[in-house]
Amino acid sequence: MKRLTNKHIVLGVTGSIAAYKSADLVRKLVAAGAEVRVIMTPSATEFITPLTMQAVSGNPVHQALLDEEAEAGMGHIQLARWADLVLIAPASADSLSRLVHGRGDTLLGAVCLAASSPLAVAPAMNQAMWKDPATQENVATLKERGLHVLGPAEGEQACGDTGPGRMLEPDDLAREVETLFDTGTLAGVKVMVTAGPTQEAIDPVRFISNRSSGKMGYALAEAAAEAGAEVLLISGPTSLQTPDRVQRVDVRSAEQMYDAVHSDVEGYNIFIGAAAVADYRPIEAKASKIKKDSDTMSLEMGKTEDILASVSALKHRPYMVGFAAETDELEANARKKLEAKRLDIVAANQVGEDAEGKPLGFESDENTLTVFWQGGSEAFPYMSKSQLARALIELIASRYRNEHNIIRPESFG
Ligand SMILES: Cc1cc2nc3c(=O)[nH]c(=O)nc-3n(C[C@H](O)[C@H](O)[C@H](O)COP(=O)(O)O)c2cc1C
Repeated sequence: MKRLTNKHIVLGVTGSIAAYKSADLVRKLVAAGAEVRVIMTPSATEFITPLTMQAVSGNPVHQALLDEEAEAGMGHIQLARWADLVLIAPASADSLSRLVHGRGDTLLGAVCLAASSPLAVAPAMNQAMWKDPATQENVATLKERGLHVLGPAEGEQACGDTGPGRMLEPDDLAREVETLFDTGTLAGVKVMVTAGPTQEAIDPVRFISNRSSGKMGYALAEAAAEAGAEVLLISGPTSLQTPDRVQRVDVRSAEQMYDAVHSDVEGYNIFIGAAAVADYRPIEAKASKIKKDSDTMSLEMGKTEDILASVSALKHRPYMVGFAAETDELEANARKKLEAKRLDIVAANQVGEDAEGKPLGFESDENTLTVFWQGGSEAFPYMSKSQLARALIELIASRYRNEHNIIRPESFG
């Protein structure tokens, strides 16, 4: 899988000569796996057409703050929620100044204010504009607020000057963007993740399974790898691609998943049980296909091994994170699981639909989660499974470090 697969990037294009390079930048980001939506300021459209940006991104270009097509006319909020990263490239001197002042009078400004994702800017301007104390102060303020400032590069400029202020080349920018998702909060930590459904054989062609898609577990494995962990993903049957920098072992049944987990779990620091493991399996899988010669049939089922509880019971148990998919009594059931399986964290998942009819849990790309631990909880609102996974991994990383008295290195700021 590519480094930016599943990443949603809002690319803001502003009024700079370097805007012609943004088309190439979009192509580089898309080639690295990202989905890109472009916002153009009115001046940007004087330098490059929205049509070009639409063609390379494969998505309509957003320009107006008022979007009558968007739900409740609030396109800026939708785009801000959708974004895993807002990148402004090229970022004009003017746009940097407006960012510093928190101006929300353009679509791009409003999205930057509303986004909770990281923000990055790639300044592009004449060397004198770059060196001007106002620009330098603006850049320092933005850095202080945690914005990523990518570049600028030095060299010959469109106006004939030479010096700092050129936008980084699209290749270099795309590479920098890839590293922005690497948090380092789990550097040196070994994480085992189980994901997907299990299939319990009835006969050679039939099985009992469940509706788990594996998306949440895969997103967690990916987010843990981005956090710098060494990740082993033990997966039931899914159609998903293995995330970048993740080692994957495929299994089919609950018994195979149990064996795969226990053959490797020693030495792992964190165990995340996101698989929907069958609770029961047919006691006997028939050796040949069952014929349709009676009106009814019954299957005798036996309990499968409880993987979470068994890992939790190990003498040197890893930090344990479990999932609870519940149709009702979310908190009570989740806390029961926390106790019964001696988990450190349980992430509870309402299965079905939320109050507005949005699908939750299995098969959907979005979800909400409420995370419980001894004496605390945190609710994550409705967002994409990859955003949820990153938020959950950050929470796990911080609680894990807390319990193991690991000081967070300054550089992870
Ligand atoms: C031909 C031309 C080229 C320009 N190039 C740049 C540039 O590279 N960087 C910059 O900061 N401003 C540049 N400007 C000025 C910006 O376009 C101007 O400040 C504008 O207000 C930026 O608006 P925006 O940030 O909303 O897109 C240029 C202006 C013109 C007419």
